[in-house]
Amino acid sequence: MKVLNLKRILFGLLLIISCHGVLYAQLSKSDQVRLDELLGKMTLEEKIGQLNQYTGDYEATGPLRQGGDKVDDIKNGRVGSMLNIKGAENTRILQEFAMQSRLKIPLLFGLDVVHGYYTTFPIPLGEAASWDLEAIERSARIAATEASASGVHWTFAPMVDIARDPRWGRVMEGAGEDTWLGAQIAGARVRGFQGKGLGSMDAVMACAKHFAAYGAAVGGRDYNSVDMSERMLRETYLPPFKACVDAGAATFMNSFNDLNGIPATGNVFLQREVLKGEWNFQGFIVSDWGSMGEMIAHGYCKDEKEAAMKSILAGSDMDMESRVYTRELEKLVKEGKVPMSLIDEAVRRVLTKKFEMGLFDDPFRFCNPEREKAALHNTANRAAARDIARKSIVMLKNENQTLPIDLKSKDSKIRTIALIGPLAQSENDMLGFWSISWPDGDIVSLEEGIRSRIPGDVKLLVAKGCEINDKSEAGFDEAIAIAKQADIVILSIGEALDMSGEAKSKGHIRLPGVQEELAQAIHGTGKPVVVIMNAGRPLVFNWVADNMPAILYTWWLGSEAGNAMADVVFGDYNPSGKLPMTFPRDEGQIPLYYNYFNTGRPSFGDHDLLYKSAYIDMPNSPKFPFGYGLSYTTFVYSNLVLSSKTMTAKDKIHVTLNVQNTGKTAGEEVVQLYLRDRFGSVVRPVKELKDFRKPMLLPGETKRIEFDIDAEKLSFYNNDLQWVAEPGEFDLMIGSSSSDIRLQESFELK
Ligand code: GLC
Repeated sequence: MKVLNLKRILFGLLLIISCHGVLYAQLSKSDQVRLDELLGKMTLEEKIGQLNQYTGDYEATGPLRQGGDKVDDIKNGRVGSMLNIKGAENTRILQEFAMQSRLKIPLLFGLDVVHGYYTTFPIPLGEAASWDLEAIERSARIAATEASASGVHWTFAPMVDIARDPRWGRVMEGAGEDTWLGAQIAGARVRGFQGKGLGSMDAVMACAKHFAAYGAAVGGRDYNSVDMSERMLRETYLPPFKACVDAGAATFMNSFNDLNGIPATGNVFLQREVLKGEWNFQGFIVSDWGSMGEMIAHGYCKDEKEAAMKSILAGSDMDMESRVYTRELEKLVKEGKVPMSLIDEAVRRVLTKKFEMGLFDDPFRFCNPEREKAALHNTANRAAARDIARKSIVMLKNENQTLPIDLKSKDSKIRTIALIGPLAQSENDMLGFWSISWPDGDIVSLEEGIRSRIPGDVKLLVAKGCEINDKSEAGFDEAIAIAKQADIVILSIGEALDMSGEAKSKGHIRLPGVQEELAQAIHGTGKPVVVIMNAGRPLVFNWVADNMPAILYTWWLGSEAGNAMADVVFGDYNPSGKLPMTFPRDEGQIPLYYNYFNTGRPSFGDHDLLYKSAYIDMPNSPKFPFGYGLSYTTFVYSNLVLSSKTMTAKDKIHVTLNVQNTGKTAGEEVVQLYLRDRFGSVVRPVKELKDFRKPMLLPGETKRIEFDIDAEKLSFYNNDLQWVAEPGEFDLMIGSSSSDIRLQESFELK
């Protein structure tokens, strides 16, 4: 191994050992003594057992490995954790086996509770579109209360990977392209999952994933390589992870990708220098599924033995399903290639969380079927799911006031509605990827949501028109026929739940099958059409976007999907969502994001092409920009005032402005604050989101909005990787989206 790498490992070890005494400082003194005593009794095999995690067979979330007897391993203390075990009863059974082991060390049960456990919430990218941090935290809190009642100790969430490439299917799982918003949401989700703290009966351990820069995979192809400057890594991709550490995340999960030539699982810089060193992370790191063994395929390790060695040296504490630890670590220690101190450090980290979760006091404290039954059928949870689902909907277009569909006023002309499209009656697709399926899941489809709202004298006609993803147009005639009978058409199109998510990268992100052709056929009837798009990612759907009068982007909204969509369609909720990711016009533009560098030859518009940084065969602007979303009302911004036009690094500028609801409908507006550092020691983005507010305004109401600008908001990593705010001119922009700047001022940092 290169000298440099060895130096990094030794540096990392020194950092760890130096903070070793702090390692489990959050434990009571008595528990620290218990942990030390326990560690002193453990054989090497039992220590390695704590670093070994197997999957249950509820649902494989990775390539299954055969062989071995997991129950025998549990009974003999060779397993520290199980994932994909669902239900209080099932976890109790396995915990009973663990209590048969010599030292009776309880198992940790982990599960991907990413956007809900029994009550399913919108996919995280959808929740991010709500820009409602309280609602996002509440969503995670509810997921934790339901999961912890069902034996789950640990969720593999939040996923906080910044992603600028919608070809990557896992954009559905994160908070989109913006670092600042992503960091705010990451903290909210960790606080939601962990609640009052580990040990509370309704807390689950959070797991910040995937560390790190997994969303920057070349070509948007899942598991692909990532190569970027340390400056880009620290400025764009690491802050949401740091926000998780600051929020007290119990665990981290590393990522499948290699980063600058070294797989994350074996990356000393990432895990020991940054996470456990600089950030003094106290929890433990679990590998992603099989990622340790996959370092062989990466070409970074020649065999499982080297994979185990490089993983433990790099600070990967627990091995999810590659089994290299249970097979190889004992030999490595006995051969003196891995110091026992590293094994002990990893084991301490794992045992500390088990103590914090109260599992040594009562290994069965989360395995209560009675509590589980009471926790899962909770109407308040469904109401919360409906609330954030409505808030996640982004209205992309609304010409001729097509929306909301008026069913209430006495002069409403709506007597027949045609509901058309392959997702109109779908239930499971509303859950989205990384949802947990239930036989009695009670998912509200769009059709059910609409039926529950229309009065008796309004007829609803329904036709699928086509499948989600096949070439047959056989259903078009029936769809056209009901459209012709209707006063208005609701067209429900988009992706199935398995078209975005892990290992779902796409070269084309268009409407699947013949859905666009169906839209064209319905458009041909001349009827007004409301398009409802379900998808896990930004799609390219230019014909629909250009030709249909009203479009709602509704992601995958979870258990209450149909009710939430109906609430917006019929005007019971005024849409307030804003896009957390840029929507390209064409895959050829990707990566396309709002906070780009200006370049030396910036193009100022879709026709400014001569010797400019632009494509000559397509417009260069996005189809829909970051931060964009319409409302049923309108908002006017005015009276932007800065407390001063200059500031020093020690003080702040107080910013105020007015926002008025100038329409007839109450509504929320996401008031976005962007900053631009005009000149820097390194080039700076043309704008960066640095704060936002989401006031509710009644018709005619004006509210005063306030922000503070401090040096932190002006800071960035310079070429020497110092976090600095450099004196100079800054532009301050207040916008309703990243490209709809309503007010602007400038100021100077002295
Ligand atoms: C998967 C995913 C990860 C998930 C884990 C366990 O491969 O990458 O996000 O938490 O395995 O299911």
